[in-house]
Amino acid sequence: MRRTEPVSQDKDTGRWQVFRYSDAMTVATDANTFSNDLSEFIPDHEDLNTFSKGNFQNMDQPRHRELRGLVSQGFTPRFVAGMAPRIEAVTNELLDAMRGRDHIDLVTDLAQPLPVTVIAEVMGLPVSDRALFRKWADALLVDNGIDAIFSEQGVAAMAPAIREMNAYLLNHVRQYRTSRREGLIHDLIAAETDGKKLDDQEIVGFLALLLIAGHLTTSTLLGNAILCLDENPEATRQLRADPGLLPNMIEEVLRYRSPLFWLDRRAKETVRLGGCEIPAGSQVSVALVSVSRDEDEFKDPDTFDIHRTANRHLAFGMGVHFCLGAPLARLEVRIALKALLDRYRDFAVSVDEPIVYHDPRGFQGAKRLPL
Ligand code: HEM
Repeated sequence: MRRTEPVSQDKDTGRWQVFRYSDAMTVATDANTFSNDLSEFIPDHEDLNTFSKGNFQNMDQPRHRELRGLVSQGFTPRFVAGMAPRIEAVTNELLDAMRGRDHIDLVTDLAQPLPVTVIAEVMGLPVSDRALFRKWADALLVDNGIDAIFSEQGVAAMAPAIREMNAYLLNHVRQYRTSRREGLIHDLIAAETDGKKLDDQEIVGFLALLLIAGHLTTSTLLGNAILCLDENPEATRQLRADPGLLPNMIEEVLRYRSPLFWLDRRAKETVRLGGCEIPAGSQVSVALVSVSRDEDEFKDPDTFDIHRTANRHLAFGMGVHFCLGAPLARLEVRIALKALLDRYRDFAVSVDEPIVYHDPRGFQGAKRLPL
């Protein structure tokens, strides 16, 4: 597609799909032409509207800048770096629970519970509720397909989970307002710019964004890292000898196996891209899995190279909406991989049991990864 039809319209959905890196960069970074507000494509639904109020990933300037600025006051790089000891402790607890078992599913036993536990702790929510968080993330992103949000039927199927999650988070935010407990929710309540503060529903919208965005993406990345190591024993040997290579290796996994397939925008005006005229109001979807293998941007793109230096991948997006949780995801995956390499002299993906993959149009990676 990159060579023959770098930009093309999908006949079934009407979306314009972008396959080349240079065009993808334009779509991701030119916020004047490409909007993050996709509400025109999403059915009008009261529960969803309330729930989305603080989800600034779906907003344009100036509101996006205002909300992201407020939220960033609580979710600082220092705050994330301070999570390292807890991430190590949770990783070790999960690895301890795997000890002595011959049957391990990397996703169920580590890659899934680690980010959901960490995100619950970051938000100051009871970790014992993590089965609920998993249920909601699945209901919103997996069970009904990642595109469910674009159809009446899909939104109706998600509505019970949305209502339940909204009520749960609202209850916690209200409890924080009246208590003196510290934590991210407390910081979000206190955050202020030019006299403006976040209201409860906006805080709920942001917490939901964190719970949903920070959970399946990170577990998919960790599973993908294991798949890459399994296929590249020499890279594994080098990482054992020099764990300082881990950050670069993780960037290569993000490029080589981007956890997300698509990045979506709406064309605000009629625009020419890749030789096509895209009418104003169209949905424009960047195929991350294609752009990260573009030979015009990456040398030997189909080679997994943990020493790759020029690697401006788009797995976390680019521009003003660049993933706010990228430092946390990188930290979690680095700590988990280091612990796995330290504990296990040898591990391999099982040849007896099949790997179960997500529907690749949503997440690109494993749902079950037997080791
Ligand atoms: C935005 C991917 C982990 C929170 C994004 C975007 C991508 C992305 C592609 C940009 C969306 C756009 O341009 O419209 C990923 C991947 C992750 C990951 C691949 C893991 C490997 C996390 C984590 C958190 C998080 C751990 C939080 C705990 C967010 C937020 C945004 C975002 C809040 C919205 C930023 C904005 O619109 O300004 N993420 N993410 N993500 N991500 Fe992540």
